[in-house]
Amino acid sequence: MTTPPTAPPPPPDDAVTGWDHELAAFGPDAAAPPMPAPEPPTGPLAGARAALERLSTWVPIRSLGRRHRRRIIEHLLALEPEDRYLRFGYPASDEQIRKYALSIDFARDEVLGIFNRRLYLIALAHVAYGQPVPGEPQRTMAEFGVSVLAQSRSRGLGRRLFDAAGLHARNRGIDTLFIHALSENRPMLRIAAAAGATVERDGGESAAWLRLPKDTISSRVEQALERHLGELDFQFKRQAQVISGFVDGVAEVKAHFDSSGRAAKQ
Ligand SMILES: CC(C)(COP(=O)(O)OP(=O)(O)OC[C@H]1O[C@@H](n2cnc3c(N)ncnc32)[C@H](O)[C@@H]1OP(=O)(O)O)[C@@H](O)C(=O)NCCC(=O)NCCS
Repeated sequence: MTTPPTAPPPPPDDAVTGWDHELAAFGPDAAAPPMPAPEPPTGPLAGARAALERLSTWVPIRSLGRRHRRRIIEHLLALEPEDRYLRFGYPASDEQIRKYALSIDFARDEVLGIFNRRLYLIALAHVAYGQPVPGEPQRTMAEFGVSVLAQSRSRGLGRRLFDAAGLHARNRGIDTLFIHALSENRPMLRIAAAAGATVERDGGESAAWLRLPKDTISSRVEQALERHLGELDFQFKRQAQVISGFVDGVAEVKAHFDSSGRAAKQ
């Protein structure tokens, strides 16, 4: 048995104060008047700052085409009954979902998706063009529909898809983005309201209209950049999956030879 070491004596009462004094030599002068808060950047700097902020929460979004129909169907079939009801406004059966996915006109509409690392489609948005604005034939409108798998919610994916849909529609010369949602669908209505949409409730159903600004060179560059980065991200994930599959294959073959070698020796 060893005797415990004697406890060190407590520090003198002024020990902390002493260090404060030493450190004060390097810190701000306590007697000096407070520094004014820095002005938020304006002009091109404000744009650069906004772009950097967006980049820090960037999510790769990919434009989908006909060849993605199988993934789109898989994604929609994975929605729980309650989510199917919120997404389509009725309890869509598997058959109705397949029919809907097969009817998407990729030449006219925009379909946007977010893939996870395993290339599973976790979020999907459909921007349907060619919607008439009742009583205002000179105006152009697109309808937005979205779904995010339950396990990927509340991470801002729905909002990002909404923003991307607005950007695409705007660059196509559309002036209004329309969302039809059940009034109980608080996340969807929250996304629309936060973007500045006018929300009108009519009992159990709600309609939201978001007026889009005119397209600019900057909005077109932003869309092109998003498209290229989204494509790059997808290809990168695909390569990673191929390499991972190859490594798994090698490990399997090695394990097979190891076990047959052991069996031969025995
Ligand atoms: C609507 C939906 C797409 C939202 O996707 P999401 O990725 O979870 O959305 P976000 O993470 O961008 O968050 C949406 C907002 O709703 C808020 N929210 C989430 N759950 C909420 C709830 N139960 N009540 C109120 N607000 C809620 C979030 O806090 C967030 O607001 P904030 O950014 O101000 O904090 C998703 O819930 C979904 O797929 N639902 C089923 C299909 C559907 O309803 N589609 C819409 C009809 S077209």
